[in-house]
Amino acid sequence: LHVALFLPIAYLLGSVPSSVWIGKRFFGVDVREHGSGNAGATNTFRVLGKQAGSIVLALDILKGWIATQLPVWLGQSTNIDSLFLWQMAFGLCAIMGHIYSVFLNFKGGKGVAASLGMAISLHWAASLIAVVVFLLVLLVSHFVSLGSMLATLAFALVVNFELLGATSLYFKYFSWFMVALVIYTHRSNIKRLLGGNENKVYLFGKKST
Ligand code: G3P
Repeated sequence: LHVALFLPIAYLLGSVPSSVWIGKRFFGVDVREHGSGNAGATNTFRVLGKQAGSIVLALDILKGWIATQLPVWLGQSTNIDSLFLWQMAFGLCAIMGHIYSVFLNFKGGKGVAASLGMAISLHWAASLIAVVVFLLVLLVSHFVSLGSMLATLAFALVVNFELLGATSLYFKYFSWFMVALVIYTHRSNIKRLLGGNENKVYLFGKKST
């Protein structure tokens, strides 16, 4: 069987709307009707609290990671470059599933947690830098959206300037595509950031909005 035949599995995996399903099943709440209205981990934290938010975050990271690992586990390719290309394709399918979920009438979240899962599989060290940038931006600005966008940018910069070792040209292009995608999915957040009314998240102390 050709590895491409498994791409729909990556899409289906990414489509699993953990925030909506967990919210409905365990809290009787549809997170899309509260907070930012986003079907994602951040909004689950906001609406349903730390425990539910952490579980959704973990599941969404996991689905991105599993999808991106699939070509490795399927053991189809002996050529490391083409294996890596397949991994990017599989990861992207999962992220598209998360953003345009078959279970949510082709709507969904913003793809940040799923992208992190993919990024960990593709380049764990660059992902670590991205997570650190995310946390720093969140601590200073209290905006998750800004943290998500700047973390994706940091990942692209690390990959493109080969700060942690050589990377392929395709990976470099791909990392810029991820920056464009995260900006696109955060367009409502960008509007709120510019308008001065973006929700704030306080890791310690004050109540988040
Ligand atoms: O992961 C999405 C995050 O960057 C923003 O989420 O709910 O504040 O729009 P939210």
